[in-house]
Amino acid sequence: MKPLLAQATDIQDEVIDARRRLHRDPEVSFKEYRTSQFIKDILGGLGIEIIDWGGETGVVGLLRGDRPGPVVALRADIDALPIQEENECSYVSQNKGVMHACGHDVHTACLLGAARLLAENRENLKGAVKFIFQPAEEVNAGAKAMIAAGVLENPPVSAIFGLHNNPNIPSGQICLQAGGLMAAVDTTFLTIKGSGGHGAIPHRTRDPITAAAAVIQGLQNIVSRHVDPLEPLVISFGSIHGGDANNVIPEKVELKGTVRTFSPALRSQMPEQMRSVIDGIASAMRTTADFVYRQDLPPVVNPPDLVAWCRTSLEKVFGSGGIVTTAPVMGGEDFACFQEKVPGVFLFLGVGNPAKGIVHQWHHPQFNIDEDGLRFGATALAQLAVDYLDQHG
Ligand code: NI
Repeated sequence: MKPLLAQATDIQDEVIDARRRLHRDPEVSFKEYRTSQFIKDILGGLGIEIIDWGGETGVVGLLRGDRPGPVVALRADIDALPIQEENECSYVSQNKGVMHACGHDVHTACLLGAARLLAENRENLKGAVKFIFQPAEEVNAGAKAMIAAGVLENPPVSAIFGLHNNPNIPSGQICLQAGGLMAAVDTTFLTIKGSGGHGAIPHRTRDPITAAAAVIQGLQNIVSRHVDPLEPLVISFGSIHGGDANNVIPEKVELKGTVRTFSPALRSQMPEQMRSVIDGIASAMRTTADFVYRQDLPPVVNPPDLVAWCRTSLEKVFGSGGIVTTAPVMGGEDFACFQEKVPGVFLFLGVGNPAKGIVHQWHHPQFNIDEDGLRFGATALAQLAVDYLDQHG
């Protein structure tokens, strides 16, 4: 069999074209209708069975090899972001205010490329490959919806692999590492209530604005004073609303925030630690606090045994020098939900290339990728599937 990377290089124009078509027509979470149809058309053309998973968007395909064996899943997320693109390329987003600024077009194109490689090599597959094109990653909801609908069953999946593009890693390289890679994601909702009044007569009010400011500052003491400095933790507030006029103290302030952790023990302590600081400060400032802590996503954690296995497979594509490690990131990924159910490894695919102007981070209006990375991404996924089935079949 011709090496998969060589096969991927032969079809790289097609993979780039798919990526550009997707990039031109981005759709936000759970609205990926045209994207899903595009995926179905390509999978159908490859003779891959489409499984109706029950959702309006997102696609599940099943490719049965010529020989019996287990089922390995490959996952890509397909949704875009509500961002106005500021690139000037020929394939710039045609949808106002919507952009593939996280590169999920890249993941989708890589998985479509892998689907073609695997379909063309089905006589070598000892089992089946399930292609999971997942909607709504950006709102932490797509993986949960698909798992609840049973996409890991019928037939049951033995292992799952997925990747995210990374502009900080050169194209032609991939990050493979064991342990925690991306953080757990939780959301906080806080309302501080006092009583309003004239801004010039503060002593006749119970001011929720100053209380909110003190609470925000106080909560950072959990990060710097209450928790082991070697333990990753982020507490951020991204939304704060209270009052309308410059000289009126309002009755309440509403805040929304995010908490990121890796340690399950620390994560489980966070609601009580935060509540205790919030209640103490709010009460000292004659206000009351209503606090809700919602756990959204577990951390992305790659099991060491499966990572060690992946290395041998990925060396065929990237060579030993092309497999790198990186610092874990406090961003989250709902691929973690799949990893809770079946053994799975999440990779960072290199798409960086400063010489080509590929320097912007995810969610930037000028985010872009080095398209030379696409053939490597498609090959990595296909190689893992072929080898997994070969050795576990
Ligand atoms: Ni993303």
